[in-house]
Amino acid sequence: MAISRIVPEGLEVTVNVAQSLNGYISGPGGRTAMISSLQDQERVHRLRSSVDGILVGANTVINDDPDLTARLPSGEIVRPTRIILDAALKIPDGSRVLDTRSRTIVFTSNHSRKLNGAELVAVHPDELSLPAILERLSGMGLKSILVEGGANVISGFVSSRLIDRFYLFIGNVIIPEGGIRLFSMEVEIRDVVREARVVDGGVLMELYPEKLVNKI
Ligand SMILES: NC(=O)c1ccc[n+]([C@@H]2O[C@H](COP(=O)([O-])OP(=O)(O)OC[C@H]3O[C@@H](n4cnc5c(N)ncnc54)[C@H](OP(=O)(O)O)[C@@H]3O)[C@@H](O)[C@H]2O)c1
Repeated sequence: MAISRIVPEGLEVTVNVAQSLNGYISGPGGRTAMISSLQDQERVHRLRSSVDGILVGANTVINDDPDLTARLPSGEIVRPTRIILDAALKIPDGSRVLDTRSRTIVFTSNHSRKLNGAELVAVHPDELSLPAILERLSGMGLKSILVEGGANVISGFVSSRLIDRFYLFIGNVIIPEGGIRLFSMEVEIRDVVREARVVDGGVLMELYPEKLVNKI
């Protein structure tokens, strides 16, 4: 049975994430791990340049300190809106996403702290549900969003059925045990891959997001 999509009309949600051969998206303790090849990084930057917003969770900002811009081979830098989900408002001052060179929106339920370099959307915890956040983003005029992680945020999007396209790059690398896993299945599921191709440094897959619902 087809599962209906509940993303606001006119908003496209794409997930892109990289995992190691042994199933980790980060190294031990959440440390950043180099999983993508150079060719794959180029693909990710092209993908970033094609969307209105790039969304990540607070732990990704804390552990990776990404700047969430699209750096193209031509040298051009494209700056989609950066969207951070940070209920407790724990990302540190000085994080690269707060550099003010791109618009940054932080969704939080902490009303007590100020954060320079971002527009805070401080709402009641009930309004931090992912459908409510997407409604707000759609209302701000965003039409396409790339969700880059981490595992907590991606599993929220999967279980809320909010994903249109799901890209998973599996890098040709095994990293030390103890990192964060994208998939922690309680049950066995099969036939999740819609398309797969071997690329430089790994395999790029497109998954059926609806087949993962309630499973990760
Ligand atoms: N390999 C890759 O492609 C890739 C990409 C990105 C990240 N990563 C890795 O992923 C790791 C982090 O993953 P993670 O699962 O620990 O954390 P995460 O998903 O980056 O962030 C989780 C945090 O986001 C906040 N959050 C989630 N949903 C929210 C919502 N609806 N509203 C408000 N806040 C919300 C929560 O904050 P509260 O705790 O305050 O509720 C939660 O603790 C990093 O170590 C990074 O290296 C890997």
